[in-house]
Amino acid sequence: MWNALRQGEGLTEILTDFYERVFADPKLAPFFASTTRTRAIEKQYAFLREILTGEEGYFGDRPYNAHHWMVISDELFDYREELMESCLRRHGLEERFVVQFRAIDEVFRKQIVKSEPKPKKLRGEDLPLEGYGTIVVEIGTLCDDCQEAINAGDRVRYHLRTGQTFCPRCSAARETAA
Ligand code: HEM
Repeated sequence: MWNALRQGEGLTEILTDFYERVFADPKLAPFFASTTRTRAIEKQYAFLREILTGEEGYFGDRPYNAHHWMVISDELFDYREELMESCLRRHGLEERFVVQFRAIDEVFRKQIVKSEPKPKKLRGEDLPLEGYGTIVVEIGTLCDDCQEAINAGDRVRYHLRTGQTFCPRCSAARETAA
């Protein structure tokens, strides 16, 4: 299949087309609200390249952790697979490879489909899904809520799962939150 994908060149074309459609799709786009198309293409490329060539080179999360907070039904998983299959065919991939491609994704269905968010796991430990921590920032940044400045030395709240960080004023609103 790697040869059919022209040593990755064809895979980049397919993933570029696929994520353009995903980011414009009302059912799939909301999951990608806090990430970029480039990141999605590059991560997915490295993930699939490692599987298809057997050469190490993917340093992202495993599928369970990557999707731990996403409530994805079997129907939505199928919907995404059909979108992927239509892209593979549009780019001229032979049918036997389309079937193999789908079989690879199916290996991960059980890790991705779920009816409620699951905690991310790090070395067997569950990480928090919700809640805030407090941190003194070392480098200035922007508030993830109001977009105002956060200055070096400010003591602020941050979300434990997403890492979103809030200026002192927006932090105050979260001061009492767990
Ligand atoms: C409906 C089905 C799916 C949805 C809605 C979905 C959504 C997402 C989203 C939003 C991200 C970005 C996470 C981030 O940037 O932090 C992501 C990452 C990823 N997804 Fe999926 N995904 C689906 C199915 C799949 C399938 C079938 C596979 C392949 C087995 C897969 C493999 C990956 C990989 C490798 C990443 C990168 C992980 C990382 O950032 O470290 N996804 N997915």
